Amino acid sequence: MGKSLLVLGSQWGDEGKGKITNFLSEKADIVIRYQGGNNAGHTIVFGGHKYALRLIPSGVFNENVKCVLANGMVINPRAFKEEVEEIRKAGFPAKNIYISDRAHVLFDHHIELDRLNEESLGSKKIGTTKRGIGPAYADKISRVGMRMCDFISNEFPELYKNLLTIKNKQIIDMGGNPIDYDKTVKEYLELADYIRPMVIDTVAMIGKARKEGKNILFEGAQGALLDVDFGSYPYVTSSNVTSGGTVDGTGIGCHGIDDILGIVKAYETRVGEGAFPTEQLNEVGDLIRERGHEYGTVTHRPRRTGFLDLPALKYSIQINSISYICLTLVDVLTGFDKVPVCTHYEYQGQLIDTLPASDRVLRECKPVYAYLDGWTEDISNIKTYDALPENVRKYVEFIEKETGTPVVMVSTGPDKNQTIIREEIF
Ligand code: IMP
Repeated sequence: MGKSLLVLGSQWGDEGKGKITNFLSEKADIVIRYQGGNNAGHTIVFGGHKYALRLIPSGVFNENVKCVLANGMVINPRAFKEEVEEIRKAGFPAKNIYISDRAHVLFDHHIELDRLNEESLGSKKIGTTKRGIGPAYADKISRVGMRMCDFISNEFPELYKNLLTIKNKQIIDMGGNPIDYDKTVKEYLELADYIRPMVIDTVAMIGKARKEGKNILFEGAQGALLDVDFGSYPYVTSSNVTSGGTVDGTGIGCHGIDDILGIVKAYETRVGEGAFPTEQLNEVGDLIRERGHEYGTVTHRPRRTGFLDLPALKYSIQINSISYICLTLVDVLTGFDKVPVCTHYEYQGQLIDTLPASDRVLRECKPVYAYLDGWTEDISNIKTYDALPENVRKYVEFIEKETGTPVVMVSTGPDKNQTIIREEIF
């Protein structure tokens, strides 16, 4: 019997999912991305090289792994081709890549509309990655999007012309730059030729793989607190990042995911706008940013930094049914005398440990901290859990006790080899 495991970002993204997915993919037959698009940036370090993936699942460096871009994704065909070619240039064949015929295409007009939406929001902007993600999902829900099956069909030029007529009206109304049909249709037809051999019915493929007992890894993008339903709306991404999104984004069915591994950064980061109760707008925050190289993989924006937020994490564990935790970037906290961890929020004189629906309310929540003893030892080359300094273990076990969720992996650096396994789960 094969195993299926979801690797999920439990915070506001950038928890180190790429590294862990790549690490686990050695035992996988298939790695599947199920939501988002090239707003994601998954960094993978091995053999002295650093690779940044945006659309392609992090199993692509293993030749035996099939990589699937499933139906829940929005895919920019140009960005896709560029990424495949980059990987090939780096010496990897990138042969086993499959795209769902139901995935939606992200066009240039989505990017222009993302820019215009953000501009029109002024100081209330979301702080998107400007990759067109929101407008592409909006079109999908409004039933005016285009699926891959249509993109690669002979009908494409006609369908695209009709679509662009509507979208250009919207762009012009907003004072933007309309997209030239003749110019873009030519490029898109070439891109469709490139992509066509990879487009298949991934629902059937995934179902068959499950029946045949293959090992399946699902790779979440962004983080659960950016989920369109459960995140701090409206400062969220436009997809269901949570474990429920895996079901809808792949067609695996509710019983198709055996375990859910929540990737949890040892502290907190966020890119873009929105409430962030434990944010450190001070030297400590700057230190975490520099040590953790906390700059966006896609946009290179400096990430906002802060301390671990347990109310937010417990919420994430509940909405995702997280069965295990992998704690990442623990090495970044080395050298602190005390490590603060937020256990509750204070809101209007009351202590709460749940995440309010309103971003406005969350902004008013004041973190209440527990202060754990820090450590000074370099942990980046430690190979076993028992060899970690006592205070690191106490930090890990505090999180475990507070969340009621076992921490099965501890990551102590960006390289694949800097991963401590406490319990094999895949
Ligand atoms: P969008 O996904 O580009 O629409 O951006 C919406 C929000 O999600 C913004 O705050 C982005 O900074 C954030 N976001 C999107 N993708 C990622 C990611 O991969 N990591 C962290 N934040 C992200």
